[in-house]
Amino acid sequence: MNILNDSYKLNTGATIPKIGFGTWQIPNGDEAYSSTLFALRSGYRHIDTARVYGNEESVGKAIRDSGIDRRDIFLTTKLPADIKTYNGTLETFETSIKTLGVDYVDLYLIHAPWPWSDRGGDYTEGNIQAWKAMEEIYKSGRAKAVGVSNFNVKDMQAILDNGTITPAANQIRFFIGSTQNEVTEFCQEKGILIEAYSPLATGRILDNPEVKKLADKYEKTVAQICIRYTLQRGTVTLPKSTHEEYILQNADVNFVIDEQDMNYLNGLRDIDPQS
Ligand code: A2P
Repeated sequence: MNILNDSYKLNTGATIPKIGFGTWQIPNGDEAYSSTLFALRSGYRHIDTARVYGNEESVGKAIRDSGIDRRDIFLTTKLPADIKTYNGTLETFETSIKTLGVDYVDLYLIHAPWPWSDRGGDYTEGNIQAWKAMEEIYKSGRAKAVGVSNFNVKDMQAILDNGTITPAANQIRFFIGSTQNEVTEFCQEKGILIEAYSPLATGRILDNPEVKKLADKYEKTVAQICIRYTLQRGTVTLPKSTHEEYILQNADVNFVIDEQDMNYLNGLRDIDPQS
């Protein structure tokens, strides 16, 4: 059984492959095109991009050129975090669809509850307006599911209190030692899927001696332990790489971290103090 075919069910009833190919920080052009195409040819069926990554064009071209039936690929993109109006959301979605060159996306996310230039600011009203537009997009069928990203419990609650559709997913920074347990548990209890971005702490976890020791025990790489860990925590995992060897390695995670070792990894703290 190829783990790239393993999926969760969203609260919409749709399936979502557990492992997605993350494209954050992969420049538009040859790099995004080649790595996305390689991932698809290697069996990945879930691609995660965003308007602000700037690579929707190349990601969309790779999807078309792969020759894989569009319906067999799960594609996510995201509304830029500084768009907090109803009309702005509708217009930006059109731009994304056009740039990707697709008829629909499988998941459309509000990228963050605040613009990156005002991290932590209160944009509750703007998020409620944007969410109204997200619901319209969902109802139009051009996004098969809608959700959020980087939302904490308070941000989630505002959407649940004011919206009519429950977000299908919340994509958050999630890796060993940094698992945002409060929002993770809140979402998982409500059937809102957690998607783990930066499961390798953008590479900063790879030299961690504690995880390395465990990786040696399982005869796996640190990256594989990290990815497997996120899966066993019930999250979608979105490792990013531009290297073919890593793209293959990151999908070769059909093993089990035993309960004792999961508890150990759950207990590790501040593994990425730079963040
Ligand atoms: P690269 O893109 O040069 O291949 P994250 O998924 O947490 O954002 O981490 C991505 C970072 O980890 C990138 O720098 C990526 O390198 C690196 N990376 C991805 N997969 C592996 C792997 N299997 N082994 C080592 N480094 C990896």
